Amino acid sequence: MRINKYLATLGVASRRSIDTLILQSKILVNGRVAMQGMDVSDEDEIVIDGQKLKMKLEKEIDEKVYYMLNKPLEVLSSSSDDRGRTTVVDLVKTNKRIFPIGRLDYMTTGLILLTNDGELFNRLVHPKSEIYKKYYLKVFGEVKKYEIEQLKKGVNLEDGKTLPAKVSTVKIENNKTSLYISIREGKNRQVRRMIEKFGYKVLMLRREKIGELSLGDLPEGKYRELTKEEIEYLYSI
Ligand code: URA
Repeated sequence: MRINKYLATLGVASRRSIDTLILQSKILVNGRVAMQGMDVSDEDEIVIDGQKLKMKLEKEIDEKVYYMLNKPLEVLSSSSDDRGRTTVVDLVKTNKRIFPIGRLDYMTTGLILLTNDGELFNRLVHPKSEIYKKYYLKVFGEVKKYEIEQLKKGVNLEDGKTLPAKVSTVKIENNKTSLYISIREGKNRQVRRMIEKFGYKVLMLRREKIGELSLGDLPEGKYRELTKEEIEYLYSI
């Protein structure tokens, strides 16, 4: 893999910063000054600014923490609240200064990521990142096929038309519809506004996935650390 992509995928720095380091001759590959555009692999010994890559990564990953939380109802997606309400940060026991990546409404449950890694935060909240987030929701009433098609194509909201979404109905029972909606942008209260546009009242909304990261069977209110593979995945998207 090209050296700048390889190091960026590992979360060392952005491709552009890596190119700058190469131009400054600060990267060595197997003892030689790295060249822009060269290919490297896990077999190569890479030294960045005098520090061996493995040591550098381990040190950095040690200092950073990454969690997924299944946010319960009535918990704020912020780091603090001047009205003393419980926040997602209160639910994770750590002495690090963590913050949530993105937001879920007070009355939405499900997957939220927390970290003290500002670079990952910037990458994931950047409007260009366009990662699909999958929501499970239950609404009052029977959602029609043509409405599903419109939700898929995009819905006009007051702040613009939504991007194409993935939508599938799970079941319609007792005048209630359960469905999945996956969106790749983050307008305020977007899923609620999309479905409310057709006059349906949301009974529950839960985020189940962010990209390939899944809540799995993590109970509401519980959290766990992300695995090394999950962190690497987030850096790769
Ligand atoms: N869309 C919503 O309407 N609410 C959320 O919390 C997340 C997405």
